[in-house]
Amino acid sequence: MPERIFIGVAWPYANGPLHLGHVAGCYLAADIFARYHRLKGNQVLMVSGSDSHGTPITVRAEQEGITPEEVLNRYHPQFLDTWERLGITFDLFTTTHTANHEKVVHDLFTTLMERGYIYKESMPLAYCPECNRFLPDRYVNGTCPHCSFERARGDQCDGCGRTLDPMDLLNPRCILSGTEPEFRDSEHFFLKLSAFQEPLLEWVEKQSHWRPNVLNFTRRFLESGLKDRAITRDLEWGIPIPVEGYGGKRIYVWFEAVIGYLSAAVEWAKSSGNEEEWKDFWKSEQCRSYYFIGKDNIPFHTIIWPAMLMGYGGLNLPFDVPSNEFLSLEGRKFSTSENWAVWVPDYLDRYDPDPLRYLLSINMPESGDADFSWGEFVRRNNEELVATYGNLVNRVLSFTYRNFEGIMPVPGALRDQDRELLDVARAVMEGVDKDLHGCHFKAAIGRAFGLAQQANRYLDAQAPWRAIRTDRGSAATTLWTTIAVLNCLKMVLFPFLPFSSQSVHEFLGLDGTVDSANWDFDSLVGEIGPGNPLRRPAPLFKKLDPESVEEEVQRLGVTVA
Ligand code: MF3
Ligand code: ZN
Repeated sequence: MPERIFIGVAWPYANGPLHLGHVAGCYLAADIFARYHRLKGNQVLMVSGSDSHGTPITVRAEQEGITPEEVLNRYHPQFLDTWERLGITFDLFTTTHTANHEKVVHDLFTTLMERGYIYKESMPLAYCPECNRFLPDRYVNGTCPHCSFERARGDQCDGCGRTLDPMDLLNPRCILSGTEPEFRDSEHFFLKLSAFQEPLLEWVEKQSHWRPNVLNFTRRFLESGLKDRAITRDLEWGIPIPVEGYGGKRIYVWFEAVIGYLSAAVEWAKSSGNEEEWKDFWKSEQCRSYYFIGKDNIPFHTIIWPAMLMGYGGLNLPFDVPSNEFLSLEGRKFSTSENWAVWVPDYLDRYDPDPLRYLLSINMPESGDADFSWGEFVRRNNEELVATYGNLVNRVLSFTYRNFEGIMPVPGALRDQDRELLDVARAVMEGVDKDLHGCHFKAAIGRAFGLAQQANRYLDAQAPWRAIRTDRGSAATTLWTTIAVLNCLKMVLFPFLPFSSQSVHEFLGLDGTVDSANWDFDSLVGEIGPGNPLRRPAPLFKKLDPESVEEEVQRLGVTVA
């Protein structure tokens, strides 16, 4: 029975290009998971989009003297282009600035209000006497009351990850003028999070399959007690409040962005021609929902969004939230303002996508923080991608192509060593299957590369380039066996390295795309029909010049005026 898998991926703010931290945080893992499930014949819906509202966008617009809409219109198409070039296969990547999204947000807002989970109240809000305006959360900085981190933002502390209110900050400052804000009363809408404390605790206790970091963070958050949260702001950019008389206010960006997961499914269904189809992913108990996010987004996905869904009723709660930890760059935190970042579009102008996908998979910040360095990138590209996998593919296929007239050799009866390697391939396919099913991405790619190593050892021991002089039949058996294993390798590596897997697929003389085949050992081996024509092979990966490391490191931290 095919499974149904909904994959929601964090919505990137459309206020700047994507860097490697974003890719390592959630986009790559989500794509690996989606590709894997599609190969397994499951029904997948993977959505996300540009987070288009809120102060991250207005701050950027103010800095550049352009409108928030212009900021969105610059970065949204760039994101789409990045996904295409990096091979991140969203079923829909939309924005939160659509009429459809607004309609779904209004439905949730109104329904939660009718049920008493949203109420109106007057609250003291940061007001800057210098700028003469109410200050959105991110326009206030100060010291975190929990961990004393000095540059905490009004919405969240980057030191300890806790969500904050500007009122909580010690020594608050307006980021525009540096002035200490006053707190003036303003009327706003609140989400009654306190009503969900017990139901959430009960629900979270059942999620023993969550990653320990996600589960522990969520438990601690709940145990410290849920406070009701304001879900509207004094801003002019964003989704209007569906109640008369609040023209100068908008719905808080976090409240509406998470609703994007639902509205994107509705939009996808409309364009797929069956308007009701989103229900298969949101109302069916057969569907499991996975949310791929970076760790600073955990509370919004394990507490606030589930609370909203519980209050609304009838929609699936998250099944898993496999959040990654942080990636650093050359030992330092990514910083957009200091240009301490590798921007994905720049990377893709200079290198192929698979080497990056490889390194960020094998070194994914899955159960702890990880670091990206150019030295490691070049070294592992050359020593692992090129020398282990690329070389295996290249030497087997070139040798076969040259010595067997471009045709798949006809094997003799399989010997013990051939059967052993095939058994390893079968076991690796099962192991990778289990790993990926459980979101253990690092283990999965490590296991797949283990198979490439075994195949190299087998090939060295069998040495078909020697055997061919005395026993052509034995060489043919060795080559056929290795090529059958390559067909399995291409499959288990496809979620990670889709571009090179497609090349291998084509070298093997197969038509169509890798993902039109099934994740099934017997049928993959069966595809390697003796006598089938092969296509002329070419090197799978490029060796990188170690000298480029220095050059790449020099680019970091250079700010263009
Ligand atoms: N834009 C947010 C960020 O970059 C993530 C939003 S995820 C969503 O941190 F689910 F709320 F959309
Ligand atoms: Zn803190």
